[in-house]
Amino acid sequence: MSETVLVTGGAGYIGSHTAMALITAGHNVVVVDNFVNAKADALHVVAELTGSEIPVIEGDARDVDLLIKVINEHDVTAVIHMAALKAVGESVEMPLEYYSNNVQSATATLEAMREAGVYKFVFSSSATVYGDPESCPIPETASIGATNPYGMTKQMIEVIIRDLAASDDRWKITSLRYFNPVGAHESGEISEAPLGKPNNLMPMIMEVATGKRDKVMVFGDDWPTPDGTGVRDYIHIMDLVEGHVAALEHLDAQDGYEVYNLGQGNGVSVFELIRAVEEATGLTIPFEVTDRRAGDIAECVADPTKANDVLGWKTTRDISQACQDAWNSQ
Ligand code: UFG
Repeated sequence: MSETVLVTGGAGYIGSHTAMALITAGHNVVVVDNFVNAKADALHVVAELTGSEIPVIEGDARDVDLLIKVINEHDVTAVIHMAALKAVGESVEMPLEYYSNNVQSATATLEAMREAGVYKFVFSSSATVYGDPESCPIPETASIGATNPYGMTKQMIEVIIRDLAASDDRWKITSLRYFNPVGAHESGEISEAPLGKPNNLMPMIMEVATGKRDKVMVFGDDWPTPDGTGVRDYIHIMDLVEGHVAALEHLDAQDGYEVYNLGQGNGVSVFELIRAVEEATGLTIPFEVTDRRAGDIAECVADPTKANDVLGWKTTRDISQACQDAWNSQ
């Protein structure tokens, strides 16, 4: 069945790629975004590449009335809720902004959906809800315990939607716990372009590759990992967004609430990612090892078995492809 999907926060890096995947799979997309952390450009490119129209409404996902109007006017049948602030460090400095933006936008979106009679909801959660995991790879059944306000907002929303789904069996709700999305659509036309200084490793490496910065600061080489640098599960953005399509299309067959990890299942260290970019670009990426970053963990790698088995979704692009696509998009 073809859905008309409201993507809140849909102008960002993950949102614009999600729009691409949804439209490619035959769905329609409507976006509400407040443009605090993104511009509409990427969505214009997606509309052009797919030859389809993407209505983009500027507004805040905490605005229940606006959302009801958008859902009704566009005959929205499902919502993917991505609108959120997302910088871990900033969330420690400005917890109130994070709790207000992230938690209220989720409850407002759900209230608007209930008012409009739409009950299919996919939530952008994060592997950060696992905190410092006891072991890797991490299954969905692992204990959760976010260690910063950003992660706590994701954890709180997961509790809210679990309780909501339990209260009324019309709701079909899925949380997708993202590991570390990297890369770009194979066209190279949409990219991860953070406004301001990048927080994340791949955009930082790209800024060094393009000469915007001198070197990558590596946050510690004394972690208990094979080469001493932090290990993460980097997943190609197109694999990640195809996971959203699979989750959305599975909702009709689902009872209540489910949680899925979206990751590759392989750990890659900071040094390995730098080397992979060097191989993909033929460039040398200068780096310097510095102190550990506050709040970082040694390792975070997904067990994606549940999404593989239940959603019939698997990653098909490796880290070298992700590095090549990230570079092309520059
Ligand atoms: N790192 C560096 N230098 C940098 C940036 C990062 O060495 O300039 C290292 C980090 O210490 C870590 C790894 O690269 O070992 C990945 O760091 P990122 O900031 O790219 O990603 P994180 O795993 O810290 O965080 C990401 C998202 C969060 C999310 C989390 C879930 O940014 O929003 O994954 O695991 F919560």
